[in-house]
Amino acid sequence: MQHSSTFRLGVLGSGKGSNLAAIADAIAAGGVPAQIAVVLSDVQEAGILRQASDRSIPSAYLPPGSFRTKLDEPAESLYIQRLLEAKVDLVVLAGFMRILKGEFLNAFRNRVVNIHPSLLPSFPGLEAWKQALDYGVKVTGCTVHFVDQGIDSGAIIGQETVPVLDQDTPQALHERIQLAERSLYPAAIASLARGDVSVLGRKTARRVP
Ligand code: GRF
Repeated sequence: MQHSSTFRLGVLGSGKGSNLAAIADAIAAGGVPAQIAVVLSDVQEAGILRQASDRSIPSAYLPPGSFRTKLDEPAESLYIQRLLEAKVDLVVLAGFMRILKGEFLNAFRNRVVNIHPSLLPSFPGLEAWKQALDYGVKVTGCTVHFVDQGIDSGAIIGQETVPVLDQDTPQALHERIQLAERSLYPAAIASLARGDVSVLGRKTARRVP
């Protein structure tokens, strides 16, 4: 990966955009040597698009097509095209609620990352904080990982632990996890932008300074 301040991010999201905001703030504070080249969403009214336009980051709603959980073929091509046009070095999924497969991952091989609200490989899939609460674990957290063909199964780049409290509601736990996400994701992206992360099979390693 590239090692300069022009390392370009393409951020995809469907929700409120707290991770996008945290990444943009960390870049502005000088903590992440990157720039957000484009923000794309499959939800027209998504907060992430507002967060982008508030910060004058180029953004667009791109209709996902006819499926509920993935992009249809023409939509997938459109997303690929827009990300290539924006010359992104890394695709950052920040609450993007659609599964990306074959064509997309081939276009950005080993260059798509996601943040998941649990300590993977525990609790992949939807509402991971609720899965953790229902299971009764005492510690959960969040994970930044490369995206592969599976569900939340790619090589892990970084993790942060979060305690589960006896009186937690799903919402309280989710909020505590999201707080941890706001520092973990920018830190992981900074390492990638600096070229400090190497991938060997399903493992990653940090370069020792
Ligand atoms: C995050 O909590 C992340 O774990 C999950 O989707 C959520 C997105 O939140 N993948 P936001 O849109 O960044 O606020």
